[in-house]
Amino acid sequence: MDEKKVLLTGCAGFIGFFTAKKLIENGYYVVGVDDMNDYYDVKLKNWRLEILRSFRNFEFLRADISKSEELKELKGERFSVIFNLGARAGVRGSVKNPKIYIDVNIVGNLNLLSFCVQNGIEKFILASTSSIYANLEPPFSEEQKTDKVLSTYAATKKSAELFCYSYHHLYGIDVTIFRYFTVYGPAGRPDMSIFRFIKNIMEGKPIVIYGDGKQKRDFTYIDDIVEGTIRGKKKVGYDIINLGNSRPVELIYVVKLIEEELGRKAEIIFERPNPADLPITCADISKAKKILGWEPKISIEEGIKRTCDWFKENKDFIKSISTEENI
Ligand SMILES: NC(=O)c1ccc[n+]([C@@H]2O[C@H](COP(=O)([O-])OP(=O)(O)OC[C@H]3O[C@@H](n4cnc5c(N)ncnc54)[C@H](O)[C@@H]3O)[C@@H](O)[C@H]2O)c1
Repeated sequence: MDEKKVLLTGCAGFIGFFTAKKLIENGYYVVGVDDMNDYYDVKLKNWRLEILRSFRNFEFLRADISKSEELKELKGERFSVIFNLGARAGVRGSVKNPKIYIDVNIVGNLNLLSFCVQNGIEKFILASTSSIYANLEPPFSEEQKTDKVLSTYAATKKSAELFCYSYHHLYGIDVTIFRYFTVYGPAGRPDMSIFRFIKNIMEGKPIVIYGDGKQKRDFTYIDDIVEGTIRGKKKVGYDIINLGNSRPVELIYVVKLIEEELGRKAEIIFERPNPADLPITCADISKAKKILGWEPKISIEEGIKRTCDWFKENKDFIKSISTEENI
């Protein structure tokens, strides 16, 4: 096995890109997989991929993880770890088209677990989600019962977690599952609120808030997520670990921060809340602290500043990016 060679899926995605970049900078050889689908504007995925391609210790395979035959090219490669960050990730989309979420998030994850078994890969990391915690008392801890999820997306992630456990049990694969809490930052996802808010306010267009804006989210900055995810290489047997900021703020507070950074007032349209949305998310991060020595370092105020700076530096590019979802 080559300790420094890793497989990372979803490398053209938001979290996958920054994780791959950090691994490369830390001297790893990263084989990145992505199917470059058009769920959101592919221009942004290409933008990220071009940056990764500029590194010599990066290799790209365009493949769909839900089709095991497309992974055949990687057969025999002795990766030290697989980071499975590739997924269909939007909550709303999963309600519209559950089938594709099952194919990618469940079957795709299973294909990668099988790949581990066939190729003697001992470590597997899965990106899961705080959406799994529904109607529970915050802060959400990994020990809470999560068998009543509200969205199809969360159901597919919960299912992927269960397959990870059975593969750990059956084949001894060492698995770390991260439940991420609303991740944001530069070059983030155009289907998520922070991207849309910044783009629209910058361009003088109205923003839409579902509900009254008082719903609280445990927004977590991308660099903190990347740091935690990379620490996930540590052997744990099988464990589920929250990565969140553990300081939820109201959505409307984030809008205020963006207004201050951009020096422009937002025009807000309030619409009916989405039934799959949770009123609050908040991570109990004691396990991440204990097992990985990890804690978040970037406050929402600092994170929004850094994100707005990226938008200001890339104004023309962002103008060309569509925030429409394609499901
Ligand atoms: N961003 C968040 O707030 C958040 C929160 C919780 C969990 N997550 C999870 O983290 C992971 C990364 O999310 P993200 O925000 O970077 O999303 P993203 O959509 O930006 O990245 C996912 C990437 O996976 C790729 N992909 C999708 N289907 C694929 C397939 N069949 N084969 C190969 N590649 C495929 C996409 O093209 C995309 O580039 C996902 O598993 C997501 O569910 C994200």
